[in-house]
Amino acid sequence: MDFKLEIAKKISSMTEMETEKILELMEIPPQPNMGDYAFPCFQLAKVMRKAPNMIARELAEKVEKDDTLEKAEAAGGYLNFFINKEGFIKHTIAQILEQGEKYGSSDKGEGKTVLVEFSSPNIAKPFHIGHLVNTITGNSIEKIFKHLGYNTVKLNHLGDYGTQFGKLISAYKRWGVDEVIAKDPINELLKIYVKFHEEAEKDPSLEDEARAYFKQLEDGEPEAVALWEKFRELSLTEFRKLYKDFNIEFDSYAGESFYSDKMPEVVQILKDKNLLKESNGAQIVDLEQFNLPPCLILKSDGATIYATRDLAAAIYRKRTYDFYKSLYVVGNTQALHFKQFFSVLQLAGFEWAQNCVHVGTSLVKFADRKLASRKGDVIYAKEVVDEAVEKTLEIINSKNPNLEDKEEVAKKVGMGAIIYTFLKNNMDRDIIFSWEDMLSFEGESGPYVLYSYVRGKSILKKAGNIGENPDLSYLKTEDEYNMVKLLGFFKGTVEQAGDRYEPFVITRYVTDLAKAYNKFYNTHPILTADEKVKEARLALTKAVCSVLSTGLGLLGIQTPESM
Ligand code: ARG
Repeated sequence: MDFKLEIAKKISSMTEMETEKILELMEIPPQPNMGDYAFPCFQLAKVMRKAPNMIARELAEKVEKDDTLEKAEAAGGYLNFFINKEGFIKHTIAQILEQGEKYGSSDKGEGKTVLVEFSSPNIAKPFHIGHLVNTITGNSIEKIFKHLGYNTVKLNHLGDYGTQFGKLISAYKRWGVDEVIAKDPINELLKIYVKFHEEAEKDPSLEDEARAYFKQLEDGEPEAVALWEKFRELSLTEFRKLYKDFNIEFDSYAGESFYSDKMPEVVQILKDKNLLKESNGAQIVDLEQFNLPPCLILKSDGATIYATRDLAAAIYRKRTYDFYKSLYVVGNTQALHFKQFFSVLQLAGFEWAQNCVHVGTSLVKFADRKLASRKGDVIYAKEVVDEAVEKTLEIINSKNPNLEDKEEVAKKVGMGAIIYTFLKNNMDRDIIFSWEDMLSFEGESGPYVLYSYVRGKSILKKAGNIGENPDLSYLKTEDEYNMVKLLGFFKGTVEQAGDRYEPFVITRYVTDLAKAYNKFYNTHPILTADEKVKEARLALTKAVCSVLSTGLGLLGIQTPESM
C-alpha cells in the first residue's frame, strides 16, 4: 500500500489541488516526532488567498482518520501526517508477500516502448572494462523500466563496420591461421591486426590493399563478406559467453553494418533540408547555433562515418519501434558525439530527437595498481570477472569450506560484487575499483547485501513452516516500524531510479535495507522470541528477503540461497 498516495488523495479531495501535484510537494519531516509525511500549504495559500498556517489548521481538522491514518497536525504552514503504524505494517507486509517479485512494479509505462542500447563492443577488438560498465548499467536500466511497466527493447549496437575491416581481411589473408584463431579468436585477430599496422609502416602498399578489400566489402563481394561474417561470428561467440554469465539476452544485434545501406537516405534528408555544407572536401552539418563543433557526415573520399551511422540507426529505430524514449548507455567520453548527432536530428526536423537520451557512464579508476592488465593499457572484462569469481571462491573456502555448490555461489557473489561496485555511485563520479572494498563482507559491498539476504533466508529455513496468518500487530518496536517504512519506499525508489536513469538509487536502497535488517537481527531475537512475536518477525524477514531479492534483481545481481 502506498500511504503517501492515500494521503495525497485525501488532501486532494479537500482542496482543488491535483493528487500528482500534492505528491510532488509532500515531504518527509526532518524529525520522526513530527510525523511520517508533511504537506507544505504555501502554494495552496497563494491560490486560496489565505495564510498557510490557517489552511494547515483547517485541513487538520477536516481530514478523515481511518486504519491507515492516525492523526494530522498543523505545525505552522505545514500539515503533518502520522500514519497508523499497525495498519501500515499490516498492509505493507501483506502486499509484499502477496505480490512477490512484482512488488514495487507499476503500470506507469503501459503502452510505451523504451529502447535501451547498451554494451555495443567492437568486432575483433577486446571487450574491455568500459564495455562491461555499459553492459551492467544498461542491463539494470532495462530491468528498472520493465518493472515500471514499459515495453523494453535491448539493443546491441555492435561496432562491426568501418575501414578497419579491410585491414583485417588483408591481415587475415596474409597471416591468419584458422586453428590458432579458433583457440583465442579475439586476441588472435587483434594480433594480426596489430601486425598489419607494423608491416604497413614499412610497406605502404598494404594500405591500398586494405582499402581495396574494404571496397569489396562495401560492394558485397562474396569472399570479403564471408570473411567479415566469420570475424563477426567469432567475436560474437566470445561476447555471448560473457552475456550468458550475466544472464543478459539482447533483442537485437543490429550493429553499425546493419545501417550501411540506410545511409544514402540520411545524406539525402540532410541535403534536402539544406543542412549539408562542404568543408575541406568533406560534408558537414554546422552546429554553431548549439555551440558545438560541426558534425562530420561524409569524409572527403565519400566514406560515411560513425555519426552518419548513428543518424541512420536513430531514424530506423523510430520507424521500427516508435519509441517513447531511446536510451544510449555509453561512456561519458562520447558525450560530445551524442550531443552532436541529436542536434543534427533536431535540425532535420525530427522532433522525437528530444526523446533520445545519452545515459553517460563513468570511467573506472583503479585503487590498487595491481589490476593493471598483463596486456598493456586495456583491461579485459573477462579477466576482471574471472578474478572476482576466483577471489570470492578463496574467501568462501576459508570462511565456509563445506558449502554446497561453492563454484556456483562464488560466481553469483563475485559477479554481484562487480555489479555493485559499478552501480554504487551516480554516474557523475568515477568508479573506484578496489578488490578489498569490493569483496569485503562488511561495509557497503555486494557481498554484504547478499550476506544479509542469505542470513534472512537461513532463518526462514531453520524456522521451517511459517504461520499462515501471523498477527503482525506483534511488530511493535521502533526498529521494526522503520524497517517496514523502508519496505514501503521501494516503489518510489524504483520510480526515482527510472526518472534519473540511475541504478545507484536502488543500490543505495538495498544497502539501507540490508543494514536495517542486520541491526534488527542483532538487537532482537527472532527464532527464540515468544511464538506470536516469532511468527510476526518471520513474516517480516520473509518480506525483507523478498524485497532485497527484487531490488538486487533490478541491478542484475543474482542471489544465492546460502554462502
Ligand atoms: N562501439 C562503440 C565503442 O566501443 C560504442 C557504440 C555506442 N553506441 C552508439 N550508438 N554510438 O566505443
